[in-house]
Amino acid sequence: MKKLEEQYRILEFPDFGDERGNLVVIEGENQIIPFDIRRVFYIYGSDAEVIRGRHANRRTRFVMINVAGKSKVRMTNGRESVVVELNRPRMGLYLDTMVWKDMYEFSQDSILLVLCSEHYDGSEYIRDYDAYLREISEEQNI
Ligand code: TYD
Repeated sequence: MKKLEEQYRILEFPDFGDERGNLVVIEGENQIIPFDIRRVFYIYGSDAEVIRGRHANRRTRFVMINVAGKSKVRMTNGRESVVVELNRPRMGLYLDTMVWKDMYEFSQDSILLVLCSEHYDGSEYIRDYDAYLREISEEQNI
């Protein structure tokens, strides 16, 4: 079984800003983003009490960026867990497949941008935590 520390990575995007302001560029399939970007979505208007996510993905890898405000992401692989606060527009969180994730504590001004390696396919989402635990333990036994 992969260690959780191998299943996520904090990314730092370069800033091409100048006296006119900041400019961050994100391209798929380069040194920073290890996949071709097939889908983008963003979440805003979620407040501090809301917990989003609560799922794992069999095929999709993600990069999450709080382009405004902040939020937290709790990741677990069933054994270990870690919390990362996204709070800077130049900070990204890369997430591998089969990591269970919750996004929460959204600030009022939070805009959470999510880049995805796959088009949306509801059937590759695991939304039941017990089913997720079963699936990762089956993966180990193969
Ligand atoms: P959901 O997965 O619950 O959002 P989050 O992970 O942020 O908590 O998605 C909410 C709804 O939107 C759900 O009906 C599926 C739909 N959806 C799409 O159609 N395409 C997408 O890319 C995403 C992320 C969600």
